[in-house]
Amino acid sequence: MSNPIDTPLEILGGISADVFLRDYWQKKPLLIRQAIPDFVSPLDGNDLAGLSLEELVESRIVLEHGETPWQLKQGPFAEDIYSGLPERDWTLLVQSVDQFSPEVAEVLEHFKFLPSWRIDDVMISFAVPGGSVGPHYDNYDVFLLQAEGQRQWKIGQMCDNESLLLNHPDLRILDSFEQTDEWILEPGDMLYLPPRLAHWGIAQTDCLTWSVGFRAPSSAEVVTHYADFVARFLPDEQRYSDAGMSPVSNPNYIRPEDIKRLRQLINEQLNDDRMLLTWFGQYMTEPRYPDLLIRSELSTDELLHMLEDGAVLTRNPTARLAWSHIQLDTESAAVFFVSGNSRIISEHLVALLDLLCCADAIHIENLQPWLNDAEAVTLLCELVKQGSLECVDE
Ligand code: SIN
Ligand code: CO
Repeated sequence: MSNPIDTPLEILGGISADVFLRDYWQKKPLLIRQAIPDFVSPLDGNDLAGLSLEELVESRIVLEHGETPWQLKQGPFAEDIYSGLPERDWTLLVQSVDQFSPEVAEVLEHFKFLPSWRIDDVMISFAVPGGSVGPHYDNYDVFLLQAEGQRQWKIGQMCDNESLLLNHPDLRILDSFEQTDEWILEPGDMLYLPPRLAHWGIAQTDCLTWSVGFRAPSSAEVVTHYADFVARFLPDEQRYSDAGMSPVSNPNYIRPEDIKRLRQLINEQLNDDRMLLTWFGQYMTEPRYPDLLIRSELSTDELLHMLEDGAVLTRNPTARLAWSHIQLDTESAAVFFVSGNSRIISEHLVALLDLLCCADAIHIENLQPWLNDAEAVTLLCELVKQGSLECVDE
């Protein structure tokens, strides 16, 4: 269960979710001292370096004074890369560490006051003294949690697509940084930054910083992907039509009435809320690493036997789940979004959907209300087959 929205939250420095969302979210930065008091990182720089050797893991190293200024090296790396790096001024960044470490994924529990489908990943950086990725801005909200060592964070101006960048093939480093504030963050401290705010984090000691980043499709993505999605359901025969049009006085002229028809066509096709919800739920639950979903051929009987024998259902860390209500022709129902797919579910199963979205280990006792419900059992089995849920012996 989530807290009432006006409960002071330690992770927000004692302010409530409603105040944070009203005054800070997407608007202005917030420094939170000891957001997670006595925080001890479950992994260190060596663990992160180990992850950067793995084929499936996205990693990069930024060297301020490399063969070129701000040299970017893309992982996966060979082990000997680390012995060849200088003592200062480099950073290793590893994407989506929450997918590979359940202890890291636990930090996301603190962010339940935000929709889970907005959360993208936990990126972790390890930097040696002086290490930084340069002054830049991101298009996403981020919570920067200091996990180990000290990092100085400077913040600057609000940027946009007109902001001047250095001429760099891979990195978007700002040409000028107009500093407005700076702080040294210690383990457990956290800095929230809204999208497009210039920032610059410079390691003071060897340090680890966790970035809880958010997903927000660009308007261009929304328009193109949604239009593509809708188009899949439209037959070629359905076309621009102008039955009953008035005679043209100039055959080369596009008249306002022609554009009005076009506008009507677009409105008719793109204005369906159910279609929009279906597309959005699928899009926002698309997993970052679909290859990590482990498919299984378990039958419903086998699944129930395993659960009876003490196995538990766990969510695959790469699976993304969300649900909503949907209005069908004669009744309302739920729609469940799982890792880029959607399915209509009877309304009486919404508590099960919620359990599946929230629970980390589901035992047979948790499933009692639904064990004799054929639709519920089929759903569980489908999720296991598709790999979003795993049935594991404890
Ligand atoms: C870092 O952790 O070094 C960079 C994170 C960021 O600025 O977005
Ligand atoms: Co950034």
